[in-house]
Amino acid sequence: MNNRATAFRQGSLLLAIESSCDETAVAILRSGTQIVSTVVASQIDLHRAYGGVVPELASRAHLSLIIPLIEQALDGAGCDHSGRSLDGSDAVGAVGATYGPGLIGPLLVGVSAAKALSLAWGVPFVGVNHLEAHLYAALLEDPALEFPAVVLLVSGGHTLLISMVAPGEYSVLGSTVDDAAGEAFDKVARYLGLGYPGGPAIERAAGAPAGSDRSPGRVRFTPPMLNEGLDFSFSGLKTAAVQYVDAHPEVPSAVVAAAFQESAIEVLVTKTERCADAVSARSICLAGGVAANGPLRELMAQMGRRTGRKVHVPSRAMCTDNAAMVAAAAHYRLLVDGPSPLGLGAVPNLGFPGAG
Ligand code: KG4
Ligand code: ZN
Repeated sequence: MNNRATAFRQGSLLLAIESSCDETAVAILRSGTQIVSTVVASQIDLHRAYGGVVPELASRAHLSLIIPLIEQALDGAGCDHSGRSLDGSDAVGAVGATYGPGLIGPLLVGVSAAKALSLAWGVPFVGVNHLEAHLYAALLEDPALEFPAVVLLVSGGHTLLISMVAPGEYSVLGSTVDDAAGEAFDKVARYLGLGYPGGPAIERAAGAPAGSDRSPGRVRFTPPMLNEGLDFSFSGLKTAAVQYVDAHPEVPSAVVAAAFQESAIEVLVTKTERCADAVSARSICLAGGVAANGPLRELMAQMGRRTGRKVHVPSRAMCTDNAAMVAAAAHYRLLVDGPSPLGLGAVPNLGFPGAG
């Protein structure tokens, strides 16, 4: 058994699990960069009726999905259910899982499953910080990414501007002082009756991509804290949208959605450019669920062209929660820090690594 544990090296297979919120995902990577198989099961339909993620329902769904998804990922990688390749040439050499931040029940499902596999297969277990995992999305799709890079990590729970000098070497230069960007999209969408999840709903309602002729014209919300530093605030923008709807019920929700989206994106792009200037970044990366937003992707790419920086915009599937990014982070952590103790628990409020 232990020969599998000691054999983990750069070229080994690593299986990782993501279950921090409402996606159950399993992926197998070779060398931390080659995706051998990746499967994602979204629970969006389960939570839609409630307008948000219901933690208890999420835990139960993860529990029933986790084993079939692990088996599916192993099948996709040409491995049997003990993690050995069918031709006998290879075997999964380590197992990783997101251990925070996220919802406690969902996190525990993934962490427990990963530890069980680690024990059963006699391979190391490694706990992964979900926020760090998002940073690997761009790297996975473009291993030639040039450093220093600035990463805008925008998800349902976080809004961070991170300077990345190399994998594992980060500093947080900006964050939100109140709501996360995705949270604001979700709340405004809910108020406008556009449905869940809010980000895609706002984008759909807002219609045409940025840069096209269609502009909301008559409604504009001031981008919050646009000229101040690298921190963000989205709570005031959310309130401005809500108050506007209350005062102008005759204005179509699509117009308000477009104005909200335009303002939120303007502030995200402007601060990313400011941050890139401050650290003389050679490249800019987008990460997290909000990075699936079409106009944000387009305006960030335009800014990159204007300022002569390469902008890495991962595919939408790589921006939203998936296990390939977790496996990439796990591979790196395992080689640098070694395995995590099996006593590692789920940490719902885990911060960004190195950010206290
Ligand atoms: O990274 P993620 O999948 O899960 C978290 O770790 O939070 O991000 C989910 C967030 C949600 O708030 C969702 O509304 C937002 O990402 N989102 C979007 C879009 N797609 C997802 N926001 C704006 N535009 C989108 N197209
Ligand atoms: Zn995420």
